Amino acid sequence: MTETETVKRSEKPAPDGRVQVRRRLPRISEVRELLQFRAPVLDPVRRRLESALTIEDLRRIGRRTTPRAVFDYVDGAADAEVTASRNLQAFRDAVFVPENLNPVVDPDLSTELLGERIAFPLVFAPTGYTRMMHHEGEAAVARVAQRRNLPYALSTVGTTTIEDVREAAPEGKNWFQLYLTNNRRLNNELVDRALEAGCRTVLLTIDTAVGGRRLKDVRNGLTIPPSLTLKTFLDMSRFPYWWINKLTTEPIDFASVRDFPGTSADVAALLFDPGLDYDDLVWLRKKWPHNLLVKGIQNPDDARRVTELGADGVVVSNHGGRQLDRTPATLDILPAVREAVGPDATVLLDSGIRHGQDIIAAVANGADAVMIGRAYLYGLMAGGEAGVERAVEILLSEYRRGLQLLGLDATSKIAPRHVSLHANTPEGTPIR
Ligand SMILES: Cc1cc2nc3c(=O)[nH]c(=O)nc-3n(C[C@H](O)[C@H](O)[C@H](O)COP(=O)(O)O)c2cc1C
Repeated sequence: MTETETVKRSEKPAPDGRVQVRRRLPRISEVRELLQFRAPVLDPVRRRLESALTIEDLRRIGRRTTPRAVFDYVDGAADAEVTASRNLQAFRDAVFVPENLNPVVDPDLSTELLGERIAFPLVFAPTGYTRMMHHEGEAAVARVAQRRNLPYALSTVGTTTIEDVREAAPEGKNWFQLYLTNNRRLNNELVDRALEAGCRTVLLTIDTAVGGRRLKDVRNGLTIPPSLTLKTFLDMSRFPYWWINKLTTEPIDFASVRDFPGTSADVAALLFDPGLDYDDLVWLRKKWPHNLLVKGIQNPDDARRVTELGADGVVVSNHGGRQLDRTPATLDILPAVREAVGPDATVLLDSGIRHGQDIIAAVANGADAVMIGRAYLYGLMAGGEAGVERAVEILLSEYRRGLQLLGLDATSKIAPRHVSLHANTPEGTPIR
């Protein structure tokens, strides 16, 4: 029955012109239909995670459940955090253009990346110190990635070894992120171990000539080695579960370089090598027999040069705004990078992905897939492995809905005309 029909049948104008509503006895069955309460969820972690509908919700929960200094380490960025906010703004400014009346019953979200089919265009980015965010750490992320058929890149400064990640996710698409150091022996050893552990993709990160200055970490004393302020320490003591978990599991260290002599400060100093140059890339290209992507590309010329030197592709990334501040949003430079490397090279993008539609915006503008860092770390802080799972669930459902509302029944149908960028509009500036 339509709304107008309902009005016609139940409402008759009274002699004074006022509409009189015809009433009937209430039926209990109708009330029952309206009042369908959800069964209470007793497990507090599950309850928190179920209440999260967006990545921003997971971020808020993570902030409540994790010591402030740890949350700041994840959430913060370099200097005035201009790049970090540009990254987010670029995605907000993207303009989506739907094509309706296309059947989109069950869209095919999958895509091919480096010769393998994955569930949708998403990769877990490498993040250091992951067991500090939550004791389940890298192994939890790798397990979720394996279950969801998505690649996971372990960081050189991860707190779990390559071998332990393989044990946690033996069928996973496990990648390794490499920081090349000025120590040849260590470089050789890391590459050999990645190969031995079955990794088929290495990411060489090139945007860390020196560490970015993350002021929140300096203020909190979360440096290497730590020099906590009293305030940070007192705040940390408000999180007994975090402490118990930290103190009753393996000590947090740079697991992959554990055997290397020296303090953690010595190792950290070694890992950021300001002398890195193109010869190192050439060396790695000769040594590594499988897929090699260069991560930290921020302009088309560098992208062209590294692919000419044999890299299979690039990751357009500003490290989530954690290194050089005031650089462009990655989304803004993506189309030029794609044009520079041509259609055959692999192009990934990260920095600022917080919503499934961000993934569509990146794919429409030349990316084969995106990587997420904080989006899954917020989930990890909010609820360990289940929180990472929730982050993927959120992004996946936003991605699916985004495709359907755009009128697209497959990832392969995403095209530049579906998402225009502020940077490309006549009134937009080339770089935000
Ligand atoms: C806490 C944290 C640690 C990170 N550690 C590394 C790392 O060890 N190696 C690396 O190449 N990138 C590292 N990154 C950068 C990520 O790989 C990725 O480029 C970035 O997080 C993307 O931005 P998003 O967090 O906005 O998604 C780290 C990022 C975060 C947030």
